[in-house]
Amino acid sequence: MVKNVAIIGTQWGDEGKGKIVDILSEYTDIVVRFQGGNNAGHTVKVGEDVFILHLIPSGILHPGKICVIGNGVVIDPQALLEEIDTLKKNGHFLDDSALLISEDAHLIMPYHKKLDQLKEKIKGTSKIGTTGRGIGPAYEDKVARCGIRCRDLLNDRVMREKIKKNLLEKNHLIKNILHEDGFEVYEIYHQYNEYAERIKGYITNTSLFLNQAIKNGKRILFEGAQGTLLDVDLGTYPYVTSSNTVAGEAATGSGIGPTRIERVIGITKAYTTRVGGGPFPTELNDKNGKALRLKGEEYGATTGRPRRCGWFDSVAARYSTRVNGLDGLVITKLDVLDEFDKIFISTAYKYKGSILEEFPSDSFILDECEPVYEIMNGWKSNTTDIKEFSGLPKEAQDYIRRIEELTGVEAIMISVGAKRKEAIMIKNPFEE
Ligand code: GDP
Ligand code: IMO
Ligand code: MG
Repeated sequence: MVKNVAIIGTQWGDEGKGKIVDILSEYTDIVVRFQGGNNAGHTVKVGEDVFILHLIPSGILHPGKICVIGNGVVIDPQALLEEIDTLKKNGHFLDDSALLISEDAHLIMPYHKKLDQLKEKIKGTSKIGTTGRGIGPAYEDKVARCGIRCRDLLNDRVMREKIKKNLLEKNHLIKNILHEDGFEVYEIYHQYNEYAERIKGYITNTSLFLNQAIKNGKRILFEGAQGTLLDVDLGTYPYVTSSNTVAGEAATGSGIGPTRIERVIGITKAYTTRVGGGPFPTELNDKNGKALRLKGEEYGATTGRPRRCGWFDSVAARYSTRVNGLDGLVITKLDVLDEFDKIFISTAYKYKGSILEEFPSDSFILDECEPVYEIMNGWKSNTTDIKEFSGLPKEAQDYIRRIEELTGVEAIMISVGAKRKEAIMIKNPFEE
């Protein structure tokens, strides 16, 4: 029995990680978020109910599972409490012991959110299109060693001192350089004191908890946020988020050793989407792009922005396979392609007259790459109710087999609709 599995987005996010984590939660004891913050929006549809989770692991909808927010996450307490309240109001998360929050996770402060929005405003044409949730500035402070962590919420004096110190610099930047109103120490201090009262019961040493759980033979699912191509080191820099989104971060961001992660599963849409700025070689600005957006309901789960849509990019998928060490693929939203006559897959890029087989690490090169397409026949029939791989139309099977060939990774699950039951499990990653 495989005990520890990481779920990673292989594209630019929104691959359907939430849905897949929800399905796999049944087979695990613990679900861990290990990076990012409430820039993530993970949608889970259960019956007619739709939940969009931003910070709390998608396993929370399964009673009896422990959900952990690891040290690699940045937490906006206000967003966290709103999420907790919404879950409870809808009859979920009734047992408070189901959530553990790392004492080492950094806090998103009001000035982070303001700076995120102000800095983006002055970027002009090179906007990254951040979610404006303060993610980047919070990670900046973490690396600059002046961040405020969950453990600080438990100590009044430390909290006040850290807010005071940070505001000296932040207020200077906000008032004198960005010409906006600054913040008052006491206001933030009181606000965060109130948050602390409600959150402190969840804060603990999650690294210790997870390592003990591993020792005791518990099964753990690591839930990635964003996608590989948004990774701050390995993504399409600078058009990325501010954390590591690749599989390695499942270890760093939760305080376990990399040897403990036994299987890494990449979640990939059957096509590609991206929200925000940055290069996207297979993007479609035509009726096919519109059709993908319409059928796939491609609007941001966090910001509501229309997602940019395009064909499946096997060059990018091969890259994701490499940098994550993928053991298996979950291909989502196959049903979105049900109506297409012809389906395109990019197999290489053309760049200044030469053919690139490997994903370029330079965003400016990527921006000038033209995809080389292979064209496959569509299946023109509804796949949503199909429960077995062999029940899929031959053209759909061929499409999946071709993705496997091009990436060198086997497909272990095919998702054919947004609901929990609309999936074809080929191989359960928790089984040998
Ligand atoms: P995440 O951020 O990776 O969890 O993905 P999002 O929740 O942001 O976006 C995925 C969207 O696709 C959500 O609206 C899901 O409900 C939906 N979805 C997931 N899997 C499927 C699928 O197989 N078919 C269809 N049609 N929708 C899906
Ligand atoms: P999930 O987990 C898609 C994108 C933003 C922007 C860039 C930087 O739902 O897949 P940030 O606010 O992180 O500084 O924004 O990253 N982005 C996402 N795109 N899905 C996400 O999360 C994203 N989280 C951030 O649109 O381009
Ligand atoms: Mg999302």
